[in-house]
Amino acid sequence: MNIIATKTKDEMASVAAGIFATQIAEKPDSVLGLATGETPREMYGELIKLYEAGAISFKDIVSFNLDEYIGLAPEHDQSYRYYMNDALFNHIDIDKAHTHVPDGMADDLEAEGRAYDDQIRDAGGIDMQLLGIGVNGHIAFNEPGTDFASGTHPVDLTPSTIAVNSQYFATPQEMPTTALTMGLASIMGAKKIVLIASGPSKAEILDEALFGPVTPEVPASILQQHPDVTVIADEEALRVIHEKDRL
Ligand code: GLP
Repeated sequence: MNIIATKTKDEMASVAAGIFATQIAEKPDSVLGLATGETPREMYGELIKLYEAGAISFKDIVSFNLDEYIGLAPEHDQSYRYYMNDALFNHIDIDKAHTHVPDGMADDLEAEGRAYDDQIRDAGGIDMQLLGIGVNGHIAFNEPGTDFASGTHPVDLTPSTIAVNSQYFATPQEMPTTALTMGLASIMGAKKIVLIASGPSKAEILDEALFGPVTPEVPASILQQHPDVTVIADEEALRVIHEKDRL
């Protein structure tokens, strides 16, 4: 595992954008796994700037997002489809027909999950997967206790995740308590993984995930078993790791 320490969140964003830009330049028809949340926003902003400068094009890129809330229409401003359009897709030359977000409105969510994994496989698999990390160690919406062998599946969100994410909804009650998420096996199938983390709330869990025991109780710890993971984290997120002299 390669850990890149940055001073600030801005620097984390530009280093991560640089890694994705290199991937796109080397393989213009890359299949990218994309993430939502507060952590990747600036990184997407940097990618938009690189696109506007003519350095990269997304015209042949295919993307798969990690997850979506169940019951939120794509037009809802807290849906992850809306987030992706707003944060990235509306500002670049990607073909929206080549962008995938799990359908949280599907009638049969288990079948939708299986079909999503099939689509990823049919696209040739994910070349580079972006991840954030939840304060409880989740990646995508794979909460503690998730089976390492899981494919894309519906989940009940934990009280910790609901508490953190409900702040983005007009009223906390509006936040769905279930989601459709790529599973841990779906994520581990990516050829390369880039995990970004920023801020003090991630310091404890980042240390546990990267240096603690590999256990379903800390879903992100599975990444220790992946052959090509790059972690980019700012000083605040690396506080515990630095205090324990792990780097
Ligand atoms: C969310 C998402 C994850 C994300 C994580 C951290 O709920 N489902 O994909 O990585 O939680 O989010 P943030 O970057 O806002 O801290």
